[in-house]
Amino acid sequence: MGLFEKFEKTAALYNGLSDAGRNPFTVIMEEMLSPTRASIKGRETVLAGTHNYLGMTFDSSAIEAGQAAIAAHGTGTTGSRFANGTYGIHRALEDDLAAFLGLDHCIVFSTGYQANLGAIAGLLKAGEDIALIDADCHACIYDGCQLAGVETVRFRHNDPESLDKRLARVSPDVKGKLVCIEGMYSMFGDIAPVKEFVEVAHKHGAYLFVDEAHSFGVYGENGRGVSEADGVMDEIDFYSGTFSKSLASVGGFVASNHREVDYLRFSASPYKFTASPTPANISSAHAALKRISADPSIRERLWENVNRLHAALRQLGFHLAAEPAPVVSVLFKHADDAFSGWHALLENGVYVNMAIPPATPNSMSLLRLSVSAAHTPDDIDRIVAGYTAMANAVPAARAAG
Ligand SMILES: Cc1ncc(COP(=O)(O)O)c(C=O)c1O
Repeated sequence: MGLFEKFEKTAALYNGLSDAGRNPFTVIMEEMLSPTRASIKGRETVLAGTHNYLGMTFDSSAIEAGQAAIAAHGTGTTGSRFANGTYGIHRALEDDLAAFLGLDHCIVFSTGYQANLGAIAGLLKAGEDIALIDADCHACIYDGCQLAGVETVRFRHNDPESLDKRLARVSPDVKGKLVCIEGMYSMFGDIAPVKEFVEVAHKHGAYLFVDEAHSFGVYGENGRGVSEADGVMDEIDFYSGTFSKSLASVGGFVASNHREVDYLRFSASPYKFTASPTPANISSAHAALKRISADPSIRERLWENVNRLHAALRQLGFHLAAEPAPVVSVLFKHADDAFSGWHALLENGVYVNMAIPPATPNSMSLLRLSVSAAHTPDDIDRIVAGYTAMANAVPAARAAG
């Protein structure tokens, strides 16, 4: 009885949405037709909410590498990286990721979530160290701090001055200080001033951890992320990323020039106590990495699509959360309007993500469009037509600023 009382509020929301046939959180992709099309409720729908930024999920080299890996190494590893779950292909991907990033060490985890959880909890010690995290950081960064059991201080989003003030107040008895930020933030598509954060963190003897889950492959001259675009790849202390976005697979990694990062293989529970990524996950991610390293035109196509969609949505009068970025979010003051907007888009054959408080910054509700290099001109026309229909169906969508 007592165990389930906490679900009353969630149940009211969940059942209310489901009963009305309006639950955006239980969508089923019945059949994937391409990186940007799926069948939803029996209808071909344009996917504009998948974080498939470089469209690699249907890339022939990624598919063939996954198939060949299953044939060569089997369907699963049946063990953790720490025991029997490290194959030559896991190590080869770590080496190539480190080389791609220009960093000395890289450790692959089973997901990006576990990479952050494991690295943050493995680096920090309760009673000795402190974490300082951007207020808009992803749940896995919060969870990593919680798993570490350290004091965790939030500073204002994307505000190095706020970090500076918080760091100045840290007791001299604290041993290690770890500052955590992201490259591109996935809710609004806004970018961190990584260079300024490096300066502030190092001025106070703190280490900087940058989660580039959404910016890897997308920002910087070589696609290394916002840290590269800001010219500070050599100055950040820890870099984390995921295979689940631009690398079109499942898995994650942490990279660094600090050789001590390698000890996480012994100290991070989310590395040791879970099965390692499957051969197919590893080999598809590796093939995607090779493709995007060799062919910058994929990234260029993404940015062409970004600029086109951002300009079209701005033209339609929506309140957009940020400057052009691979995430283009339309803000709503009221969750009800965002729900209506989300349904209007789906009815018009466009799938996007919906996010409502408490998962969103500043208590805003939003519809999040993630752009892909694989979006064709026809996909983009359909997305713009969907947003035009949505703006007419939900007038509040244009007035949310
Ligand atoms: C900023 C950020 N970090 C980490 C992750 C976790 O990545 P994964 O999907 O590989 O667990 C996500 C996933 O959405 C994310 O948005």
